Amino acid sequence: FQAKTLAGKHVLITAGPTFEPIDPVRGITNLSSGKMGYAIAHAAWEAGAIVTLVSGPTALDTPYGVRRINVQTAQQMHDAVMAQLKQQKQDIFVAVAAVADWKVANVSAQKLKKTGANDTPQLQFAPNPDILASVAAMPNAPYCVGFAAESENLLQYGSAKRQKKNIPLLVGNIGHQTFGKDENELVLFDDHGHTNLPAADKQTLAAQLVAEIALRTSLM
Ligand code: C5P
Repeated sequence: FQAKTLAGKHVLITAGPTFEPIDPVRGITNLSSGKMGYAIAHAAWEAGAIVTLVSGPTALDTPYGVRRINVQTAQQMHDAVMAQLKQQKQDIFVAVAAVADWKVANVSAQKLKKTGANDTPQLQFAPNPDILASVAAMPNAPYCVGFAAESENLLQYGSAKRQKKNIPLLVGNIGHQTFGKDENELVLFDDHGHTNLPAADKQTLAAQLVAEIALRTSLM
């Protein structure tokens, strides 16, 4: 049994990787499985929230009761999030997606061909929008929760990232080997410092995180 701590609240979540095309058959992506974001979507629904999940390409089933919008690129994820916020005021925004920082600027309309043995394509990159920072900067922004996957100095980077993105809660993945796994270990950074959620399966951690978010938003 889970208490309905988010009853009637609108929760918007991004999850999974993004896919940035190089040409019609190739692209750049990352190792995010989407498991943590989907687990949070499920836990928020269990807590009574109306949940919208904007998801990059994953192999996961849509959690029961959750509305899912599929996207591929970071720009599409950004646009889908903004469209949702326009359509329906959201109380909470949880950015779990591993969004590509760069897209290919010179996407080829046709499949790139090998022309010679030593010939390699010259890819150019352009920055993608920072979805979380854009949402956090909006007037009447929802309560924003970010994630950080760092390979070192998590305590230092996590706290700095929370301040840079100007969000009330940032969740750090302890250990950067979590991608694709069923287990995780989290550290929560807020105005008061940091607290740990010890190693557990992602579904358990998601329920704990949802409870922490509910506590922090209950007076809003
Ligand atoms: O800056 P960094 O990518 O490390 O921040 C991670 C957090 O920001 C995650 O919550 C991620 O979902 C979000 N993010 C985003 N849009 C980006 C990059 C990251 O929403 N372009």
